[in-house]
Amino acid sequence: MQHGYRHIDCAQVYGNEKEIGLVLKKLSEDGVVKREELWVTSKLWNTNHAPEDVPEALNGTLQDLQLDYVDLYLMHWPVSMRKGAVGFEQKDLTQPDITSTWRAMEALYDSGKARAIGVSNFSCKKLEDLLEVARIPPAVVQVECHPIWQQPKLHALCKSKGIHLTGYSPLGSPGTGFVKKEVLKNPVVNMVAEKLGMSPAQVALRWGLQKGHSVLPKSTNEVRIKQNFDIFDWSIPEDLLAKFAEIEQAS
Ligand code: A2P
Repeated sequence: MQHGYRHIDCAQVYGNEKEIGLVLKKLSEDGVVKREELWVTSKLWNTNHAPEDVPEALNGTLQDLQLDYVDLYLMHWPVSMRKGAVGFEQKDLTQPDITSTWRAMEALYDSGKARAIGVSNFSCKKLEDLLEVARIPPAVVQVECHPIWQQPKLHALCKSKGIHLTGYSPLGSPGTGFVKKEVLKNPVVNMVAEKLGMSPAQVALRWGLQKGHSVLPKSTNEVRIKQNFDIFDWSIPEDLLAKFAEIEQAS
């Protein structure tokens, strides 16, 4: 936060909303940041898709975060699971009814406890289906997005519908063993980084910003946290930006 970050991406299933609530309270008390300067996102977990469980889930999140509202509440997945299920096992999957869950999300928007609502991990098809029935269209779609998983179709759909795209794993989550997602080792990313005198991570993040996305880099290292924020006062020139279109996409 001291380095300028204002966008906090949370989710009930991450299991850290209580800790984040304590930190936000302390930062507010110490005068480091005011609530209205923050953008706090949280996400409805798959076990709470029944309409009557949706407001309860957000209330729990707000209590843990010690907040009156979230700036954005997302349906975490278009996948429903048995209430009380722990983990992400096949046996706990249930038939989703996205329309009825979305109605409950719309009610949260009406209540003001979620200032915007959206979805995460939705494909183009699922998003189009939702747009057919939504009274309040999703403001944001949060999906995995980085130079090796550029999501061109979803990007175009979001653009045409005025939906903002947020990219998670913008660095390809290095160290998780997905060889095809080795964004930081990609030759185009490295060539651009070398030319501009920036790190591959900075280039990957800046690419996302120049595509019009917001990006959610994760780091526990102060040097990298600082470095990942230093992407606002320079840009990738058009000729180098065009090179990203040549990157082979993960399958
Ligand atoms: P660390 O916490 O040690 O910095 P993503 O945001 O795509 O999920 O990637 C997160 C991973 O990327 C974390 O393991 C993080 O490790 C690493 N990471 C974050 N920033 C950088 C950076 N600037 N350069 C290299 N690795 C980074």
